[in-house]
Parts: sequence; C-alpha cells; structure tokens
Amino acid sequence: MATSSSSFRIGIVGYGHLGQHLVDRILGDGAGMGLTLAFVWNRNADKLKGLVPDDRILVDLSAFEARKCDLIVEVCHPQIVKDFGVQFLSRAHFLVGSPSALCDPNLNRELRRAAEQHGRTLYVPGGALWGGQDIQRLDHSGALQALFIRMSKHPSCFRLTGDALSGWTEGEGRRVLFGGSVAELCPLAPNNVNTMAAAAVAAGTLGFAGVRGEIVSDTALSDFHVVEVEVTGTNGFSVHTVRRNPAQLGAVTGSATYNSFWNSLMVCKGHGGRVYLC
Ligand SMILES: NC(=O)c1ccc[n+]([C@@H]2O[C@H](COP(=O)([O-])OP(=O)(O)OC[C@H]3O[C@@H](n4cnc5c(N)ncnc54)[C@H](O)[C@@H]3O)[C@@H](O)[C@H]2O)c1
Repeated sequence: MATSSSSFRIGIVGYGHLGQHLVDRILGDGAGMGLTLAFVWNRNADKLKGLVPDDRILVDLSAFEARKCDLIVEVCHPQIVKDFGVQFLSRAHFLVGSPSALCDPNLNRELRRAAEQHGRTLYVPGGALWGGQDIQRLDHSGALQALFIRMSKHPSCFRLTGDALSGWTEGEGRRVLFGGSVAELCPLAPNNVNTMAAAAVAAGTLGFAGVRGEIVSDTALSDFHVVEVEVTGTNGFSVHTVRRNPAQLGAVTGSATYNSFWNSLMVCKGHGGRVYLC
C-alpha cells in the first residue's frame, strides 16, 4: 500500500466490532505493509484505554486534521458520516463503513461534490455484496435494468428502528419484514442494509430509489446470513447469486465480512475525486 520509505496514515472512527478488528490488523500485519494508525476515535474514549496506544487516542473528533491522515475509515454510525463526511474528504480519502447514510440524497450529493472538489476518493465497501464491480460495469454500459437484493438472517441479527420484528419466537420460521426500495429500507434497518446501500451505489443509474430490497427473518438461519442478488439486464440477461455468510447468533455482521472489509481497506490508495466501490 505504501512504499518502505513512506507510511500510509489511517484514522479509525468507531471502536465497535469492526473498528477493533481494523485497529488490531493495522497495528499487527499493517506495520509491515507501511500502514500507520494515525488515530482511533470512539464516542466513549474510556473504552480505548489499555487497548489502543495512548498517543493514538483522539478524544475530540473535530481535531482530526492534526493527525494528518491519508485515509479516514468510519465504522460507527451513519450520523457520523453526516456530521463529518464532508470535512473528512477535505483532508483525506474516506472509507464510509455505514453507506446507508448515502440514502439521504442531499448528503449523497454533498459527499460526491466534496470528493470532486478536493480530488479525494469516497470509498464504499462492497460488504457482503457479491459481484458489485460487475453490477457497476453493467450499469456504466447502460445495460442494467433492475436490481433486487434479499437479506435473510436470524431475527436476533436484525437491529430495526420500527417494530416489524416484535414478538418473534424461536422456531417460527420465515417472516418477510420489509420489501421496497433501498431508500425506504435504509432508515428502517440502518445497520443491516449496508450491503444493499453498496448495491445502490454500484447501480448508480437506478440509485437508492430504484434498487429493490427485502429483509427476511428466518429462525432456521442460526449459523449464517443469506444474501441473494438478482440482476436484470437488457436482451434477457440475468444473474442470480446466493451467498451464505457464516455468522454467530445475534451478530449484525457476518464473520466473512470482517475480512472483506479489510480487503476493501487495502484498495483505498486514492482513485481521484470520485466514488469508488471497493
Ligand atoms: N459496509 C459494510 O460492509 C459493513 C459491515 C459491517 C458493519 N457495517 C457498519 O459499520 C458500522 C460499525 O459496525 P460494527 O459491527 O463495528 O458495529 P458495533 O455496534 O460493534 O460498533 C459501533 C460503534 O459505534 C458506536 N456508535 C453507535 N452509534 C453512534 C453514534 N450515533 N455516534 C457515535 N458513535 C456511535 C458504538 O458505541 C460502537 O462503538 C455500523 O454502522 C454498521 O452498520 C458496515
């Protein structure tokens, strides 16, 4: 990622499951790859004590500029993308771990504009999306007509803002919780639809309003999440993929996604002032 004489400085915003995983890898394998941990921020800084070297802890996120990052990685909440995304892009490339934030058309526009204006890349990780680059190529060629994504998980793995899941019981089987546009889905399940949001970015001409999604609760899925993607193109073209993502009961994020996120991070070397699916 960086040459032996230079170092690539990364700031991590959020220290939950994903943040801890990334910090450990940057401090571990990353050192030999020219990666430097510039800072870690968490809304509760006490949680970082003893786990992150003291000089890497950033207490006030608005002071991030002083840490001179090449890349800032958000892994906490869409609200932070809204509050700081444009500022981050004015100073560094930005990997947005909560791309459901981009369902807000104003924020989407502002972030794209900031990336162009500052010549920095807004990276969107593919997450559990299979074939994101292929969808993007189909979209760019003008041949993408429709895109549908279904995510099925054990009910304990959903974090919904409404009450679509109230009263579930072990053994009840399958329940469709919501079907509609990804734009409608993002506010209902902001932590569960990052993969769909990545798909909506890949399918730029359809966008968040045009890509369809469905979330399904299934008590039989105690060991994995299932992500199905249906792509429809011109002249009868179609692709249907089914991905089984190993995950523990109650985990919002499948274990394969941690590695996938790290691989996404490794791509973030700078691809000019634009949005880039990684
Ligand atoms: N793009 C992807 O493929 C992908 C995969 C997994 C998770 N995610 C997203 O990345 C983010 C982190 O995931 P995780 O599994 O580490 O979650 P987590 O719940 O383990 O950690 C989230 C962290 O953010 C903090 N946080 C929550 N709300 C906050 C707020 N409003 N302001 C500031 N901090 C806040 C929490 O205290 C916690 O430390 C989530 O938004 C999740 O939806 C994306």
